[in-house]
Amino acid sequence: PTRRSSDLPIILDVDMGVDDALAIMLALQSPEVELLGISTVFGNVPLNQATRNALQVLELMGRDEIPVYVGAGEPLVRKLVHAAAVHGESGLGDAVLPDPEMLPAGNALDFLIEGIQARPGEVIVVATGPLTNLALVEKKQPGILDQARRVLVMGGALAEAGNITPVSEFNSFADPHAFHQLIKAETNMSLIPLDVTHQLGLAAETIAARLAGRDDAIARFIRESTRTVIAFEQEHYNYAGVHLHDPAAVALGIDSSLFEMETLVLDVETMGELTTGQVVVDRRPFSDEEERQGYPVDCAMKVDVDRLMHMFEHRVLGGE
Ligand code: BDR
Ligand code: CA
Repeated sequence: PTRRSSDLPIILDVDMGVDDALAIMLALQSPEVELLGISTVFGNVPLNQATRNALQVLELMGRDEIPVYVGAGEPLVRKLVHAAAVHGESGLGDAVLPDPEMLPAGNALDFLIEGIQARPGEVIVVATGPLTNLALVEKKQPGILDQARRVLVMGGALAEAGNITPVSEFNSFADPHAFHQLIKAETNMSLIPLDVTHQLGLAAETIAARLAGRDDAIARFIRESTRTVIAFEQEHYNYAGVHLHDPAAVALGIDSSLFEMETLVLDVETMGELTTGQVVVDRRPFSDEEERQGYPVDCAMKVDVDRLMHMFEHRVLGGE
């Protein structure tokens, strides 16, 4: 269906783990959102797999008019890491989707630059993987991200423990140099850190109850793709469910009243022996802000859990 240009134009930059797929589904099921396209990046899975997953999810949702663009296959500096233990080999858990018929539409960097420039001040970029594509875009065309309406990044752990190392969240760990470039560029970026996304648990029970009686391809996909993450969370954290990290960033784009934001001065560690990817917040109470180490970044500090979960469940799972 064609959409009005007064809608919320969004570009999703994804690494296509399970919750990236759920983030795409939330965007597609949100009438306010005009999804301009999806760009892919290595991360939870290698780049080719991420691209394949994005194409498959769009076809599953019957939205093959939305283009998919191919981005970076490796981090700027450090070695590649993936997260097969969490998201399964394919990135989409146990779900098996048909081979995609669509082909990628081109290069992610050009798409991001042209997409933002085509509608200055309007486009919301939502990044839910390593920040490599965004760093490369900003390097190619300095200032471009400031022409976006917002850049919403799921990444980092502030006071919360990490999820890939003791102190680092996966997206910031996977390409800390890219993340640093982005922080330093002082674009209009907002961060949705683990501290808030860890509050957004979607219980296995809720998934089962909401999808009860449904055996269509979308219901099967949600059940099967989330199974691996649920097993991982159960085994490691004694929690039977999925955290909605990436959908949270889409939700912020749709309704910013779901979050309380605060500007913190921060940076990310790129070279630590134990701390690579750690977000370091300078909380020293200097009277002169300039004295602090790092850059001001708008961070989500609190989330209205009930309202966000309701939005997600209602739009993506349906049912009662
Ligand atoms: C982030 O890492 C990935 O595993 C998820 O898709 C999410 O983007 C959470 O730390
Ligand atoms: Ca992700």
